[in-house]
This record gives sequence, structure tokens and C-alpha cells, in this order.
Amino acid sequence: MVKKVAIISGGSGGIGKTIAKSYAKLGINVVLLARNEGRLKEAVKEIKSEGGSAKYVIADVTNASTLQKAINEVFDDFGRVDIVVNCAGGGPVGGILDITDEQWNENISIKQQGYVRLTREAIPYLIKSGGGHIINIIGVFGKQPHPDFIIGSMTNAALLAFTKAVSEEVAKFNIYVNAINPGATDTELWQNTVGEMAAKSSIPADIINKNISELSPLGRIANPDDIAKVAEFLISDNAKFITGSSINVDGGAYRGIA
Ligand SMILES: NC(=O)c1ccc[n+]([C@@H]2O[C@H](COP(=O)([O-])OP(=O)(O)OC[C@H]3O[C@@H](n4cnc5c(N)ncnc54)[C@H](OP(=O)(O)O)[C@@H]3O)[C@@H](O)[C@H]2O)c1
Repeated sequence: MVKKVAIISGGSGGIGKTIAKSYAKLGINVVLLARNEGRLKEAVKEIKSEGGSAKYVIADVTNASTLQKAINEVFDDFGRVDIVVNCAGGGPVGGILDITDEQWNENISIKQQGYVRLTREAIPYLIKSGGGHIINIIGVFGKQPHPDFIIGSMTNAALLAFTKAVSEEVAKFNIYVNAINPGATDTELWQNTVGEMAAKSSIPADIINKNISELSPLGRIANPDDIAKVAEFLISDNAKFITGSSINVDGGAYRGIA
């Protein structure tokens, strides 16, 4: 049987690596993209030690040519690309009066335009492979904007619109495009975010963590595995009639109904 191939941007980070591990356990060849080679090597080693097939390509999502090169390399190696997970991102804590133009530009280029670039570069290869899946790891601030996370709120809302629009354009190629909206998820990014919030508010980090856990009726923040389980579902036959959708994985913290 032909082994599928998944490219995961941000594959060395908390959520991306966990998705990569769970896909590798399904027998998928996973290819991790990120900038720091040491962390990429470590992630590939972990996946291989669990019996998975993994490789990495150093790529910066702010640079379309490194992404083109990376996808070409993957296609040359495996002859196909079946799944693309957009997961490289982050973003500072801050409101409209705090965030500088440089921070806006940098973060829009990484997360918003990074997802756009990788999607655009990957679609021709997904088409050559007979279709596949694009999964955008976005975030609940796209649906419930927060003034202290102004960049994340804006870019996530834009990426929800992007997911919907692209899903319609590529459905004819048998390409599914969906989003997952994590709530607060226990990764290095989250720990750094809590540190920044603590420094700005002088509220201790453990109190911030507790308060945010209590926003969920389930009383905790997510762990990366909660997100990976949904990423598994979205590439499964159980999700055959789901495209252009976004699924919140936030323990019910988001209180809207749409
Ligand atoms: N954790 C949360 O609470 C949470 C909540 C909602 C949404 N999200 C979203 O989920 C995604 C993953 O978050 P995470 O918590 O797993 O973050 P993380 O642990 O900080 O991992 C981020 C990953 O992105 C990579 N990356 C960053 N900038 C990049 C660039 N320019 N080019 C290529 N790779 C880049 C990092 O590697 P290098 O630095 O080596 O490049 C790393 O692999 C992000 O889009 C984040 O906004 C997270």
C-alpha cells in the first residue's frame, strides 16, 4: 500500500510535533518544516524512536522560495504530498497601543501569510497526488477576539476566512481544507505567553494559568494531544463530508454558538 506523506509547518513545536507523531503512528511519512535545525532533529529522533517515518527540511514560512524548495524536495523523495498542516506561528501579548508596526508585519508574515504561502505552494502537488487535506491550526481568538491578543485575533479571523474560501476553490481537486481552533494549549508558546502576561500584569503565572483553565467548563487548558486527535479525525474517512469547517478544541471556553 502507498504510504501517505504529510508536511507539517511548525512541526518541531508543541502542537505540530504532536500532530506529526500521531500521523506517523498511522503509518504516514511525516516531514517537519521549521527554522531551528536542532529542534527539528530532536523531533525527528523522537518520532523515529516511536517507530515512525520522519524527516525534516529547514524552511522559513516567511520566505516562499524556501517553501517551494522544501515541497519540491519532499515530492522528489516520496513522489507525492497528501496532507499539509499549517502550524507555524505564535504572536506577542499586546493591544492596539502596544504593538509596533514591526511586530504587526513580522507576525502577519509568519502566521497569516505563512499559511497562505505554504497552501499556495502545496496545492499543485496535492493535485498531482490526486487530492488530499490541508489543515490550518488557527485559534479561538479568530472567533472570539481578545484585546490583549490583537495580532492573534486579527490573523486568526483572516485565516478562518481563508480556510473557507480556499476550501471552495480546491474541492474540485478532491482537496479538503479545514481548520482547528485550539484554545490555550500547553506548549512552549503558551508558557512564554503566560510569562509575558505575568510580566505585564504583575499577576503570578500560576494564577493566570488557573484563571484561564477556569474559562473552560472542563476546568483545564488543552494539551497538544487534544489537538492532534482532531487532526487525525479530519484526515480520516469519518470526515469525508467535512470541508471549509473549523472545529474549536478549547474545552468549551468559547461561548458563542456560531
Ligand atoms: N499553544 C496555544 O495556546 C495555541 C492556542 C491557539 C493557537 N495556537 C497556534 O497553534 C500553532 C502552533 O503553536 P504551538 O503552541 O505549538 O507553538 P510552538 O510550540 O512555539 O511551536 C511553533 C512552531 O512554529 C515554528 N515556526 C515559528 N516561526 C516560524 C517560521 N517563520 N518559519 C517556520 N517555522 C516557524 C517553530 O520552529 P522554529 O522557531 O524553529 O522555526 C515551532 O516549530 C501556532 O500557529 C499558534 O498560533 C496555539
